[in-house]
Amino acid sequence: MLALGVVSLRFTRNNKDNRAAVHDLGLASANLVIEATARHLSAHQMIGILPERARELYQIPEHFEAWTAIAIGYAADPALLPEAMQERDRAPRQRKPWSQFVFTGQWGRPAPLAERPHPAPGAITA
Ligand SMILES: Cc1cc2nc3c(=O)[nH]c(=O)nc-3n(C[C@H](O)[C@H](O)[C@H](O)COP(=O)(O)O)c2cc1C
Repeated sequence: MLALGVVSLRFTRNNKDNRAAVHDLGLASANLVIEATARHLSAHQMIGILPERARELYQIPEHFEAWTAIAIGYAADPALLPEAMQERDRAPRQRKPWSQFVFTGQWGRPAPLAERPHPAPGAITA
């Protein structure tokens, strides 16, 4: 399934700008990905879409905007992919250290908690 993430850029009740719209789409998407994963589905989020093409195709009204897409489905055998994509799929996932983006006091000053060792992915910590 390919789902579009559409934001409402104005509040319905007063027509004012809704600056939380993109944040809320991110939260909704995160919950969707967690639920999909719990159901043994895979979800792949994409920003590389054509919002104006989506508007034409689905008659998305003014003040609503297609922002992202999410492909949701059962993962197929990676051996079916072209070689270059297989390589990308096998590559280890890189994560930035928290100290590069968790700051305190001023931009760029790592928060002490960000300098503690990270738990391994999937580790349960007390
Ligand atoms: C908001 C958002 C937009 C993304 N846009 C794209 C995209 O346009 N194309 C793409 O190949 N991956 C995109 N990604 C990355 C993939 O969804 C995915 O997170 C990444 O390939 C790592 O996936 P994996 O480690 O679960 O395999 C986006 C991720 C997020 C969170």
